[in-house]
Amino acid sequence: MGFPVITIDGPSGAGKGTVCLRLAQALNYRLLDSGALYRIVGLKAFEAGLLKQDKPDLDADDEVNIAQITEQLDIQFLPQASGQVDIVVDGHNVAGEIRNETVGGYASKVAALPKVRAALLALQQDMANDSGLIADGRDMGTVVFPNADAKVYLTASAEARAERRVAQLQQAGQQADYAAILQSIQDRDARDENRSASPSKPAPDALLLDSSELSADQVFTQIKNFCQQKGISFSA
Ligand code: DC
Repeated sequence: MGFPVITIDGPSGAGKGTVCLRLAQALNYRLLDSGALYRIVGLKAFEAGLLKQDKPDLDADDEVNIAQITEQLDIQFLPQASGQVDIVVDGHNVAGEIRNETVGGYASKVAALPKVRAALLALQQDMANDSGLIADGRDMGTVVFPNADAKVYLTASAEARAERRVAQLQQAGQQADYAAILQSIQDRDARDENRSASPSKPAPDALLLDSSELSADQVFTQIKNFCQQKGISFSA
């Protein structure tokens, strides 16, 4: 048996990022933010001119080119004392740049390409080689870590997720249009759930948790209890 792995899958805005960071800190495990990987590939594909507004569908040549970009990326996740994680790609910290709706849209497009997913598979699996791991994503429990020790599928209604996003943007002093955000969440959900390559769906053995009416503390406690039932000790 290798190091323990806990997978937390589900749509954007369900609270995965918050609970994953808390779990990683409580257990002293490493954190894999797989969405950040797809966001980086999306950003790089856009910068290379491979994602164009007037050409919404990617063809086989685009897929080969984007997979090649993916294979050549040098990505490092560097946890900081503040609890933030710097994401350094080819020498530049892109952690701030990749966290917007536009890059989220690029990510969702490149994430539908099987060759891109294949190019990221070993990199993700290798993160559990020398430490316990909290894996945050869409296919962590179904494809990347099918033998994980505890699997969770954390979801929330699209409306609850849009409200959280609006509150986040307003807190950051940015403008937020609820209707546009809700639409973008629904479009991205549809793409992520209906694609043929590793669609976002719960593993058969995952705990299903709807966070629409739960606080971050309640989500953490329920997942912690579930992990304990699966034999993961939080005392360390
Ligand atoms: O979790 P996020 O919003 O940062 O993810 C960005 C996009 O990447 C999202 O549209 C789905 C995709 N993704 C994926 O297909 N598989 C993963 N394991 C993680 C994210």
